[in-house]
Amino acid sequence: IGITPILSMARRLQQIGSKYHLYYCARSVEETAHYNAIATSTLCDNVTFIHDKATKDKRLDVSSLVKDREEDCHVYVCGPLGLVEAVKNAARGCSPETVHYELFGADPSAIRYHESDSEFTVTIGSSGKSFAVPPGQSILQVLAANGMKVRTLCEEGYCGSCLTPVLSGKPDHRDSVLTQAERNSGQLIALCCSRAKSENLILDL
Ligand code: FES
Repeated sequence: IGITPILSMARRLQQIGSKYHLYYCARSVEETAHYNAIATSTLCDNVTFIHDKATKDKRLDVSSLVKDREEDCHVYVCGPLGLVEAVKNAARGCSPETVHYELFGADPSAIRYHESDSEFTVTIGSSGKSFAVPPGQSILQVLAANGMKVRTLCEEGYCGSCLTPVLSGKPDHRDSVLTQAERNSGQLIALCCSRAKSENLILDL
């Protein structure tokens, strides 16, 4: 659930005395996981609960929060797609490095396969072996078919488990986990969904 990673971050920030504020949206107190633990802890002064089951107009004003924050303030959002999208929309025009999010499902706007996809090869840096990745198949599927094991979880481009360093070549990013700066650097690739813009990718595997 969305609060779990955010709560760990809040506890750590509290511990080291960093400035933060946690906005915890849920439908009601009864549907707020860890409510008592938070409300009775040292975190409580830095937490605002928003419960909108009874009063629909009591929604979190995401737009104002994101736009009016201090310049060096980072936003971390975790939860359903609607909330994440609202934060991303409010943050348009802001530095993308200051907005961090975690989805619980694949980003529906992310396009995994294009009709114009073409075949490329991946080369395993440690062994020098190369494999062709045809359109319609992921690098991950090709590696698995050739007996290679890669750590994966979501296999839809949003968890980051399969991120792998790229030694050479140009990735065609189709995940929703890398930041824009990470994409631009081309140093990592999500093997479960991303492809290549170059004819060959050499992976640090
Ligand atoms: S397995 Fe989750 S991003 Fe690839």
